[in-house]
Amino acid sequence: MACGIVAVVASRKGALRKPLGEVIRESLKSLEYRGYDSVGFAIITDNGLVVRKSKGMIDSVTAKLGFSEFDGLVGIGHTRWATHGPPSDRNSHPHTDCTGKIAVAHNGIIENWNELKEMLVRKGHVFKSDTDTEVIPHLMEEFKNKGMEPYEAFKATISLLKGAYAIAAIDIDAGNKVFFARKTSPLIVGIGDGANFLASDIPAFLRYTRKIIVVSDDEVGYVTSSSVFIEKLIKKGDKGIWISIDIGKRLRTVEWTPEMAMKGGYPHFMLKEIHEQPQALASTISGLGEKLDDVVKVISAANKVVLVGAGTSYHASYLGAIFLNNLGEVFAQPIISSEMKWHIKSLSEGDVMIAVSQSGETIDTLLAAREAKDRGVKVIALSNVIDSAIPREADLVVYTRAGPEIGVAATKTFTTQVLVLSVIAVKVAKYRGIVNEGASEAHLRAIRSLPETVNKIISKYEAKSKDVAKLMASKRSAFFLGRGYGLPVSMEGALKLKEVAYVHAEAYPAGESKHGPIALVEDGFPIVFTAVSHEEAELIKSNVEEMRARYAWTIAVTPKGDEGHLKNVEERFTMPELPVTAASVAYVVPHQLIAYYTSIIRGYDPDKPRNLAKTVTVV
Ligand code: AGP
Repeated sequence: MACGIVAVVASRKGALRKPLGEVIRESLKSLEYRGYDSVGFAIITDNGLVVRKSKGMIDSVTAKLGFSEFDGLVGIGHTRWATHGPPSDRNSHPHTDCTGKIAVAHNGIIENWNELKEMLVRKGHVFKSDTDTEVIPHLMEEFKNKGMEPYEAFKATISLLKGAYAIAAIDIDAGNKVFFARKTSPLIVGIGDGANFLASDIPAFLRYTRKIIVVSDDEVGYVTSSSVFIEKLIKKGDKGIWISIDIGKRLRTVEWTPEMAMKGGYPHFMLKEIHEQPQALASTISGLGEKLDDVVKVISAANKVVLVGAGTSYHASYLGAIFLNNLGEVFAQPIISSEMKWHIKSLSEGDVMIAVSQSGETIDTLLAAREAKDRGVKVIALSNVIDSAIPREADLVVYTRAGPEIGVAATKTFTTQVLVLSVIAVKVAKYRGIVNEGASEAHLRAIRSLPETVNKIISKYEAKSKDVAKLMASKRSAFFLGRGYGLPVSMEGALKLKEVAYVHAEAYPAGESKHGPIALVEDGFPIVFTAVSHEEAELIKSNVEEMRARYAWTIAVTPKGDEGHLKNVEERFTMPELPVTAASVAYVVPHQLIAYYTSIIRGYDPDKPRNLAKTVTVV
């Protein structure tokens, strides 16, 4: 899973107008979505290296340990989601060497940590935690003992590591520098005024700068308060040579503002992000422009298309596949990223993969994309994060422009993903001559109106969603049933409810529900039906009646005009009549609101669902 790391190097005390410990606390708070079972920092102060860390949530730990009282010019911080060693004070990061001069924060997994640890223990190193990470400071110490300078010792350490990592390390002997390295786990440099930053994600330093450099796999380097140095080991025969990277070419400015990464008056990021959907959709529409032309041509010429994604991104992939099959008449199949391994042999040159990932860092999706590329398959990335791993490795990239999504539950990134996939399918259908100008324009017009449509749905149905949530909060299980486009929308509704409200929720094709699931239905059992068109509504009519005959509590998310033949449902969300493309985006909104309010009524924090992290970078 994910952890969050941050690092800051300032030119002088007060350059950031607050103590370094407070800067690190704020930055970690922005990364809380990446892990929240323990927190810590290490700062080089006038009195040497100070490390404070503890199990617990950021707010309580940082208050208890007095983060804000510590100042210095160089520091690192970490918010942890446990992989090796249970959450505890001793397993919290940063980890230090035997001399107490070196401190390291790490996100990822060091696969060969056991053998490295055994070797270091044999040499007399004393370990203070059960983590894989702790081998890093001890290795650095070991190389320094052999006479290497601190940065050379860091590089020598990195060359021994197998696995996934984003690492920030400080060493009293190195002065005002933070060393860093990346393989697979995300790492971004922020170029500020009088200070530079490192972090797992951009919101960590957005208060200070929007200028970024995304560190690529296998790169190592260091930041000072006024410079950034990055290099990469290139293999030449048996030997490796270090090539320094021209950072000028890699410098980017992100459009995100600090406000976009904060709650803006909402009690939770999830609710804020649900309400931000009109803006996120509008911005995604305006960002598409002509950029889709190549994507449309590649898909139109494909033998077959697979769409891979995890969780919510899989649900968007599922809709994308139906759009392509049904509208574009292109053979397309959705596959869960972690299952791709068992399907990959059917892919070859001439096929296309669309890798869908809001973070662009989900390891299963990244690995699926890599395997596809190795087989000569063209990979198109659909992501929300500029220059993240999957877009960097893809042949073509399309970005959603949803802005930073902090809530662990994906909301605005789902609707923007579905929007992009629907536009692609409509354009493919047009390009292949399957629909005419008029039909394609009808879809695109409704898609362009989605910001307004979604705004109206939120205004109309927020209070009703709260009412439905009051009863839902008392239930242990629920079914979400739909057919066609309504099925992936139902799958997304079920995922939202289970992940933030901990109500067991299962989505099923409505027509399949009488082949097993109906056995569970009894008096008051909640069943949410979704139909995005009259055709789908007509088809679920009999399923609704079957469930009502067993005294289920039925809720319908269906288009205006279907009230008549679905008149018996207990709760109705009457949605605007839209083409299936736009409807597949808009009809998920009541599901998001019901899940959010059910979570609140049950007393949970929807932004931090237990056991989940926003970005999953371990297989
Ligand atoms: C969705 O609410 C979940 N947080 C999760 O299923 C998520 O969609 C999944 O981990 C994929 O993430 P990605 O889009 O960043 O690849």
